[in-house]
Amino acid sequence: MSIKIGLLGFGTVASGIPFLLKENQEKISAASRDRLEIAKVLVKDDEEKNRLLAAGNKFNFVTNVDDILSDETIDIVVELMGRIEPAKTFITKALEAGKNVVSANKDLIATHGRELIKLAQDKGVAFYYEAAVAGGIPILRTLANSLTSDKVTRILGVLNGTSNFMMTKMVDEGWTYEAALAEAQALGYAESDPTNDVEGIDAAYKAVILSQFGFGMTIDFDQVAHQGISNITPDDVSVAQQLGYVIKLVGSVEETESGIFAEVSPTFLPKSHPLASVNDVMNAVFVESIGIGESMYYGPGAGQKPTATSVVADIIRIARRIKDGNVGKPFNEFVRHTRIAHPDDVKSHYYFAVNTADEKGKMLRLAEIFNSEDISFEQVLQQKANGETARVVIITHSLSKTQLANVTEKLKAVADFELVNTFKVLGE
Ligand SMILES: NC(=O)c1ccc[n+]([C@@H]2O[C@H](COP(=O)([O-])OP(=O)(O)OC[C@H]3O[C@@H](n4cnc5c(N)ncnc54)[C@H](OP(=O)(O)O)[C@@H]3O)[C@@H](O)[C@H]2O)c1
Repeated sequence: MSIKIGLLGFGTVASGIPFLLKENQEKISAASRDRLEIAKVLVKDDEEKNRLLAAGNKFNFVTNVDDILSDETIDIVVELMGRIEPAKTFITKALEAGKNVVSANKDLIATHGRELIKLAQDKGVAFYYEAAVAGGIPILRTLANSLTSDKVTRILGVLNGTSNFMMTKMVDEGWTYEAALAEAQALGYAESDPTNDVEGIDAAYKAVILSQFGFGMTIDFDQVAHQGISNITPDDVSVAQQLGYVIKLVGSVEETESGIFAEVSPTFLPKSHPLASVNDVMNAVFVESIGIGESMYYGPGAGQKPTATSVVADIIRIARRIKDGNVGKPFNEFVRHTRIAHPDDVKSHYYFAVNTADEKGKMLRLAEIFNSEDISFEQVLQQKANGETARVVIITHSLSKTQLANVTEKLKAVADFELVNTFKVLGE
């Protein structure tokens, strides 16, 4: 007897699974209480099938998904094709056919997870996706299991390796955004269309999933505000350094009195903050909770073996539950009514970079605008950009999203001031 697996797709992550199953056979069989066997592998067409066979891959490759979905001997379907379709249709059919499903597809889970989770529940089967957030870091199971006795108040994460690699080049070596992107593309970290990585979309998908595991609430993807790194200038980077900060793209989910709030934004992190030293393609999730206090989970957010390790851990957990007769238990059992925070309750310090004419009275006028929204300054730096224009950099005391929106609108309405950039600042 063995537990039979059907793989959908045989790309980077999926092709790492056979290695782990072989290399770690004894431990995996002991944990699963059975042998795990890759019974069938779906590939796109005969050309890919022949290429893979010629390269020495000894699997039963199929090109029609029904060969897997209608095979009653297959217990677990592992979707590793990526994108929304046909992944969504194939997973739906697999769940409807009573199969357990593992996926690493954050795009799909963040946008359609709710219906897939419900379908899995209705059918009494498992739907697990540990690898969807921060690849090799076992953060979802940690939140669901190890932190089950704790109350999480905020999760901060460096959740996208590509943009973190670029920010590391921009901060440590003074590279421009354009040069950092070209290097990330040359090294294969960034795709030819890098939008999802650099505009914070990929990290926002992960924030949606973290909101479920950390707070028991499902925030929709379009409720996660996301701002990318493409408009960060070398000036912003050097001012941040001067003031004792490092800029990184940070995803955050927090619970306020009125509900939860999630966003992805370039963030000034104090140099002493543990996330500030997460560099290159590495990821980290920093959890603030009332029991543990602060804890950080660090590791590779992508890559064949790290990601496949998380996928195989899901497969083993399912195999074990099949044996124990409780496979229908949900991946995350913490579910509460979702409440979205009121903008008055979401507070942070902010960085404002403003260009203005280098003339008397401008600084006073700027202070008046901030003062009219009851916003006070923590640090102010005035730089002479050129003969006529001065750049004023302000780090504010804590203000709410409502105050932020109001002051931004006022600054944009005054011709004297050009608001160059606004970024979140994490307080010490
Ligand atoms: N790579 C990582 O480090 C990482 C980390 C965390 C999560 N993930 C997630 O893991 C999943 C897989 O990522 P990956 O990096 O392994 O992607 P990948 O290397 O592009 O592999 C996906 C494979 O699936 C194939 N495929 C696409 N549509 C198919 C279809 N209809 N039928 C059969 N095969 C099909 C693709 O073929 P074509 O190339 O011909 O389209 C490709 O060979 C994605 O959801 C990704 O977001 C990846």
